[in-house]
Amino acid sequence: MFKIAVLVSGGGTNLQAIIDATQGGLLKDIKIVKVISNKEGAYALERAKDHGIDAECISPKSYENRAAYFDDMILKIKGSQADLVVLAGFLVVLSKEFVRAFEGRIINIHPSLIPSFCGDGFYGLKVHEEALKRGVKVTGATVHFVDEGTDTGPIIYQKAVEVLDGDTPEILQKRVMEQAEWIILPAAIRAIADGKVVSKAK
Ligand code: GAR
Repeated sequence: MFKIAVLVSGGGTNLQAIIDATQGGLLKDIKIVKVISNKEGAYALERAKDHGIDAECISPKSYENRAAYFDDMILKIKGSQADLVVLAGFLVVLSKEFVRAFEGRIINIHPSLIPSFCGDGFYGLKVHEEALKRGVKVTGATVHFVDEGTDTGPIIYQKAVEVLDGDTPEILQKRVMEQAEWIILPAAIRAIADGKVVSKAK
């Protein structure tokens, strides 16, 4: 069985889309073996626990430095035997060691059409604020393999979403989630599990 670990920081709606797909849907033969949040009290942890998924908070604040934090993350994820690490709104910048430990086996969902509105400082609502400020008429989401840069890895899927008059960052964020993120993230997991998409780094 193909196994995934999901890393989260917040509400966990993308995690929920994955959980839903594992329950008789697109990902019915795929198991979420671990959910890790860097934030205590993240609602994503509740979502995981509600479905009997092994979930815990591992906060960088509990470690002496980033290296020690990521060493432990590597150990825990390797221990889970996950085939793929899914960043579903995980807002901690990964260390090079972490990326190398799972080379070609980490994917990330980003709420814009990369290479627009991505890179350092572009995360969550901020991405949509910037898109509205720039006045783009089309935005969307991207799921990509993670390399050692920020949002620079090979693109797997993208889906465009219209920006409408009167959009606020919150309204646009919700539309991008509903019409793009919750669709392309499970689809990418499916494609990788089936060997239809393979990272060159693998
Ligand atoms: C999502 O919109 C995701 O694309 C974004 O954070 C949100 C998490 O929501 N990720 C990034 O901005 C990564 N750079 P969720 O916790 O409800 O899935």
